[in-house]
Amino acid sequence: MQSDEAREVGAAAIVAGGRLLLAQRVGPPELAGLWELPGGKIEPGETPAEGLRRELVEELGVLTAVGGRVGADVPLPNGMVLRAYRVTLLDGEPAALEHSAVRWVGPAELSAAELVPNDRVWLPDLLTLLRVE
Ligand code: C5P
Repeated sequence: MQSDEAREVGAAAIVAGGRLLLAQRVGPPELAGLWELPGGKIEPGETPAEGLRRELVEELGVLTAVGGRVGADVPLPNGMVLRAYRVTLLDGEPAALEHSAVRWVGPAELSAAELVPNDRVWLPDLLTLLRVE
């Protein structure tokens, strides 16, 4: 049964040592090569934190702790809502298991990065995160 609540896509703002982790999309073609905060769809029955932790195991092979929200809700065309969360690495080194690459960026590299359109709205929030880290 479909819930009344908009389904959520969780995205992880993983910050360590003053840098943010970006992941490069493989597809679809219009997004391939662009950089995003890793994450994915929260499944029914999962809390957002549980779903995001699962996605980060699948996509990056890391164990994480999910913290508070970062930036605004981003409505997606399919009726879902995209939400970013502050995430801390607990174990493992992020690997591009489902992306073409991952990289750590500081403020200047983040500002210059070709982000997927949905994630661009968070740029000021992500820069603030990096500066207060
Ligand atoms: O990664 P996945 O394809 O499961 O993401 C589901 C939807 O959320 C897609 O439409 C994707 O473009 C979007 N998304 C996004 N920004 C992210 C993660 C996912 O726009 N950081």
